[in-house]
Amino acid sequence: PNHDIERIKNLLGTHEDFPKKGIVFKDMFPVFQDPTAVEALIANIVHHITSTYPEKIDTVVGLDARGFLFGPLVALRLGAAFVPVRKQGKLPGECVSAVYEKEYGQDIFELQKDAVKAGSRVIVIDDLIATGGSAGAAGELIRKCNATTVEYVFIMELDFLEGSKKLDAPVYSLIHL
Ligand code: HPA
Repeated sequence: PNHDIERIKNLLGTHEDFPKKGIVFKDMFPVFQDPTAVEALIANIVHHITSTYPEKIDTVVGLDARGFLFGPLVALRLGAAFVPVRKQGKLPGECVSAVYEKEYGQDIFELQKDAVKAGSRVIVIDDLIATGGSAGAAGELIRKCNATTVEYVFIMELDFLEGSKKLDAPVYSLIHL
C-alpha cells in the first residue's frame, strides 16, 4: 500500500555534498534499521513483480554493492536464483564484461558466464538509478548470456537524470526523487 512507500521514503537518509560537493546523496541504510520497513519494501517489490509478470522469473541479478543486500531477499520469495554483478576482478571463473560511464571515467562490470542460462528471464535490482550507466551495463551482460531482462527494479529513481531511457526493459522504482 501507499503508506508503506511513504514510510520507506521518510526513513531514507539525505546527505548534502556527499561524496562530493553539489551531490545530494540518498542513503537506503536507515530503512534497514527497521525490519518492518524492510518487510514492506520486499513485499512491495515481490507483489509488483508477481502481479505484473505471471510467467516465472528465473534469476534476480543484483548490482555491486547495495543490490546484494536486498536482491537475495526478493529472489528467495520469488523462488528465483540470485546472481551478483561485480566490479571487474572480483568474480572467479569465466565472466562476461561490460564497460560503463561513471561521473568521472569508466568502470567495468562482470557476471559469471554460467550463472545466467540462455533463455532465462531476469530481474535486475539495485538501490538507486541515477544516469542508468551501471544498470545498462548489467543489461548488456544479460544479453551476452542470451537471457532476457524482464524489468529493472530500484528503490529510488532520480527522475531528472532520465536514466531509465537508457534501458532495454521497463523500470519499476518505488520512490521517485
Ligand atoms: N545514493 C546512492 N547512490 C547513488 C546516489 C545516491 O544519492 N547518486 C548516485 N548514486
